[in-house]
Amino acid sequence: MTTDTGRVAGKKALITGGAQGLGAATARMLARHGATVAIADLNLAGAQAVAHEIDAAYGAGSAFAYRLDVTDLTGWSDTVARAGSDLGGLSVLVNNAGIAPVGNIESVDLETWRRTMDINVDGAFHGTRAALPLMRESQPGSIVNISSIAGLVASHAFAAYNASKAALWMLTKSIALHCAREGLDIRCNSVHPTFADTPLLEGLTSGTHEERTAKLARQIPLGRIATPDDIAYAVLYLASDESRMMTGAELKLDGGISAM
Ligand SMILES: NC(=O)c1ccc[n+]([C@@H]2O[C@H](COP(=O)([O-])OP(=O)(O)OC[C@H]3O[C@@H](n4cnc5c(N)ncnc54)[C@H](O)[C@@H]3O)[C@@H](O)[C@H]2O)c1
Repeated sequence: MTTDTGRVAGKKALITGGAQGLGAATARMLARHGATVAIADLNLAGAQAVAHEIDAAYGAGSAFAYRLDVTDLTGWSDTVARAGSDLGGLSVLVNNAGIAPVGNIESVDLETWRRTMDINVDGAFHGTRAALPLMRESQPGSIVNISSIAGLVASHAFAAYNASKAALWMLTKSIALHCAREGLDIRCNSVHPTFADTPLLEGLTSGTHEERTAKLARQIPLGRIATPDDIAYAVLYLASDESRMMTGAELKLDGGISAM
């Protein structure tokens, strides 16, 4: 008889962009359900604060924090090596770090376009390539790419963001099929949230937090924006073996937007 200590007990997870927002909620969620987690972010102090909080709740060695710019190839190999050593392997990679600049096809400048692609697409490309050799040794594995409903449904005002999240959506499927063809028990799926209550929303519309939330909620059939945990629960499912038949799929948490 085995003891079930958690939905992701024994999993070793690396989460990018985990200093705040959805990444921090995911790190807390996976730790709460039994995983050990490594949080990698440009913002080291923020990542350390989340890791300390997790260690305080679940014991020292439950969480680790690193500084990483996901666009930096060398940084990726160092981070994966550190995570492998601190966690004792790597079975889950959550490519979450991302930016969402406002700009339509005429107003977005080339630098912003390239930076968005660099972080939102190349970041996951580098991360997956860096992590796969180690993940082969810790199967079953799961890669979760945080795309967006903006990767499936366009808006006039987010040319670079729409394009980057659509690219990440399709990259996810290619990774999934590659792993399957290689005979690996490593799955790859994408998550597509609608507006979620994180600092990222501050740059999207003006007004107070309440005004912003109410304005965005009016665009969603369910009439509310997501909490970070609404999204983290989806990542928990995809990271766990409960989703073992799911690969190359997209999980929409859009409050009904794409049903319209
Ligand atoms: N919040 C939403 O409404 C929403 C909706 C759909 C999808 N998403 C996606 O979810 C992910 C997380 O979003 P969030 O709302 O938590 O954003 P956020 O801005 O609150 O947090 C993003 C985190 O990523 C880090 N980061 C940014 N660039 C980085 C880089 N180059 N290298 C490493 N870390 C970097 C930041 O320091 C920050 O800690 C993003 O990919 C975003 O596009 C968010």
